[in-house]
Amino acid sequence: MAENTLTITDNRTGREYTLPITDGTIHATDLRQVSAEEGDGGLMSYDPAYLNTASCRSAITFIDGDRGILRYRGYPIEQLAEEASFLETAYLLFEGELPTAEQLGRFEDDVRRHTYVHTNVQKFLEGFRYDAHPMGMLLGAIGALSTFYPDAKHIADGESRYLQRIRLLAKMPTIAAFAFRHSRGLPYVLPRNDLDYVGNFVNMTFEIGGRYEPNAVLERALEILLVLHADHEQNCSTSAVRSVGSSQVDPFSAVSAGIAALYGPLHGGANEAVLRMLDEIGDTKRVPEFIEQVKAGKGRLMGFGHRVYKSYDPRAKLIKRVADDVFEQTGLNPKLEIALELERIALEDEYFVSRRLYPNVDFYSGLIYQAMGYPTDYFTVLFALGRLPGWIAQWEEHLSDPEQKISRPRQIYTGAAERPYVPIAQRS
Ligand code: CMC
Repeated sequence: MAENTLTITDNRTGREYTLPITDGTIHATDLRQVSAEEGDGGLMSYDPAYLNTASCRSAITFIDGDRGILRYRGYPIEQLAEEASFLETAYLLFEGELPTAEQLGRFEDDVRRHTYVHTNVQKFLEGFRYDAHPMGMLLGAIGALSTFYPDAKHIADGESRYLQRIRLLAKMPTIAAFAFRHSRGLPYVLPRNDLDYVGNFVNMTFEIGGRYEPNAVLERALEILLVLHADHEQNCSTSAVRSVGSSQVDPFSAVSAGIAALYGPLHGGANEAVLRMLDEIGDTKRVPEFIEQVKAGKGRLMGFGHRVYKSYDPRAKLIKRVADDVFEQTGLNPKLEIALELERIALEDEYFVSRRLYPNVDFYSGLIYQAMGYPTDYFTVLFALGRLPGWIAQWEEHLSDPEQKISRPRQIYTGAAERPYVPIAQRS
């Protein structure tokens, strides 16, 4: 049988090294022994944007990007989207197993008991400008929770971690809904603990004058979207949570780092960017012209492409189905036609085909959120609500991994060599 090792020759010295291969990887630190001269610190691997570097071991989410597979704890995303509630999915991500009815009931009760936020959090949110972006409000307010719950810094205590997990899950929809109301100048609606998780959130966003008629199809559609977003292994925001969490800060601060990363247009902000792009195109007739601009390097086709999925994004497939259910209730979103035309042309175009660019989770989700009544700048907040269990599960996994330490990448220094300080009067 072939040996699980890699033999490399350093042509600078002619020396040969044999490195163990475990789980299809070599350890970057094994390269340190490859040294050309004393004191050079040994060889490093250079991998900007982590294109080919595994930063952790994880038992949470499996992705096969070539075959379009996504599983949480081994369960296919298609089955979870069809069958599971969001809190059930969250429990699965945290605990590694699906809950029994009793376990789920207890978990839901725990979450229900923590939905209220301190009234000072409301005051804090009121301090934002009337047009504050809700993602900025969410990231500020979640970070601020660490000041309300200083016990959250006891990260080595499992009971404390459980409590913060519940607080985050319970309070984030409340804060998100307050941010929504703030942007519309509406009074905040307090949580209703007789409603389920999604029902309560929707009520807090849309209730006016004590009235809101829930639509079961739309609420289930939103729940499916949350399930589809619940985790996605080592994406930019999750890596941010892990990296910040590795300093042993409290989970509210670590999660607010995740929210900040998600805010960006190349990550969760893409759903918002898709809608702005569709608005800019304005008419199906302008789609070919827009595609030509993208091919000429003037901007990107937002909602297309993925670092890992190179055949299709399974979440995008499921979201298209959810869109049909939603549009049946709300009537067609007029921008859908433009999106379908963009997809049709892009999927036939050599530029996109050769680069293996396909619609991702963000391509259609924004159209659904808009049909549900959420404004464009709110879409990424909905993504954040979905991704929260993943961030927490990954944060806890990171903390309990004995191989992990504080995250601290190396660099290749490209700056000036040592030089003496020049007094200001002598500088030209
Ligand atoms: N439109 C046009 N060209 C693209 C696109 C796009 N959306 N995405 C990638 N390319 C091109 C890119 O220009 C490059 O071409 P070339 O080889 O000629 O330089 C090639 O495809 C490879 O792109 P890359 O930037 O090296 O790929 P990446 O893995 O670093 O980026 C991505 C992945 C998702 C950031 C990128 O595809 C992108 O910017 N997409 C648009 C934004 C978006 O929809 N983001 C949501 C991602 S899914 C949800 C989430 O994780 O938040």
